[in-house]
Amino acid sequence: MLGLDLGTSGVKVVALTAQGELVGQASRHYPLLTPRPGWTEQRPEDWAAATLEALSDVTRQLKAAGHTPLALGLSGQMHGAVFLDEGGEVIRPAPLWNDQRTALAVAEIERTVPRAELIVRTGNRAVSGFQLPKLVWLRTAEPENFARTRQVLLPKDYLGYLLTGHLCTEPSDASGIGALNLASRTWDQDVLDALDLSADLFPNVVESWAVVGPLLPEMAARTNLPTGLKIVAGGGDNAAAGVALGLTSDRPELGSVSLGTSGVLFAPLTQPTPDPQGRVHLFAHADGGYNLLGVTLSAAGALQWFRDKLAPETSFEVLLSEAASVDDSQGVTFLPFLSGERSPHMNPDLRASFSGLSLSHDRAHLLRALLEGTAFALADTYDVMRPLSSVTTLLATGGGARSAFWLGLVAGALKLEVQQAQREPGAAEGAAMLAMPAAGFYPNVQAAMLALAPAGQAVAVLDVTDSLAAYQAIQK
Ligand code: XUL
Repeated sequence: MLGLDLGTSGVKVVALTAQGELVGQASRHYPLLTPRPGWTEQRPEDWAAATLEALSDVTRQLKAAGHTPLALGLSGQMHGAVFLDEGGEVIRPAPLWNDQRTALAVAEIERTVPRAELIVRTGNRAVSGFQLPKLVWLRTAEPENFARTRQVLLPKDYLGYLLTGHLCTEPSDASGIGALNLASRTWDQDVLDALDLSADLFPNVVESWAVVGPLLPEMAARTNLPTGLKIVAGGGDNAAAGVALGLTSDRPELGSVSLGTSGVLFAPLTQPTPDPQGRVHLFAHADGGYNLLGVTLSAAGALQWFRDKLAPETSFEVLLSEAASVDDSQGVTFLPFLSGERSPHMNPDLRASFSGLSLSHDRAHLLRALLEGTAFALADTYDVMRPLSSVTTLLATGGGARSAFWLGLVAGALKLEVQQAQREPGAAEGAAMLAMPAAGFYPNVQAAMLALAPAGQAVAVLDVTDSLAAYQAIQK
């Protein structure tokens, strides 16, 4: 089974056996366009070229090793908007998940559909990065382009369209648009009517493990994959990564924490119960259930900033061991809002700070406070999730998860067991797993998840009671 993750910096393709063994992989990069401050875009044509190259590369590896590809699952960055005309051609570059151009469109949506109602229906408030505000933006800012738009697709679904000729999406990614009714898993006609948008602009919603269609002969010729290869709908990148880690809605006590550039908390749910204030996201999970997703924007990104700007000669390992060398931050507090904040504050204008400094503090205290601050930002997000979720254990992933010390701070701040994962399969692996039932392996996605989930080992919990109280006092 092949799995594809259409990321923000590049596309990754992996090939897994039914037992989860990695037998091929390739990645290709593409540019990020920033035509104006706050705008981020990519050219769908660049995604397509990079994807076809990476698929050809993996096909070569599989041929050489005597493996036969049976199905390909899709995953990728969520929320982006690919605008297609009558003939299925791309109208303009696609604004991405981290694009910030839509403030007026978000205000227009909130004026039209009261926030509380949008949350009950779709699981989320209007968020600037989501796809629906991008469509509303296009209508006002580029009316000629809007008039030509017949379909708007999410990034990975555009690849599905190129590979099969079929226009489809699936609930985990579709719930990041802002117009999917989470209870019915179909487009919310009332929300779209209120905004004067036609549901025909959006593709059909199929299950995440459904076959979108067979690979088109011309795409088979360009990749050397077999014509007719089953292309499976797949999942948004967070949901697909959740599949790879075995975070099934049948086992809602196991969630994940990712310490990447941003910090992400993922909690599977059986029912679509949103935070009434929309401070964390509620999405459909790719296994048929639901999940809460809390995103803090500066986790390992805060340490990277510190290293790049203040200690460029020093390795991350040295900085992390300096932080661990002091008993606590001795009154120094770091608020980590270097790029504003998503969960729980939903405020792009927040900024970071160090406070409580005295002559006695040195770099180790600053570093300790920085790591604690990222853990406390996750704890604030988890406080919103706690009444809604039954998570007791978090599997840790991302660059920062290599540090048992950092994870110990997270465990102390969230009061949850945090485990280092033995392997760290990501969204591409999850997409391959979503394709397994269609390829004839495992009766359903849950069975594949339970069979292939990585084992975890709990880290020692660190006591952060005093620093957490100081952090919360300063935030107030
Ligand atoms: C989720 C989100 C990101 C993107 C990036 O809400 O915005 O995780 O999916 O890939």
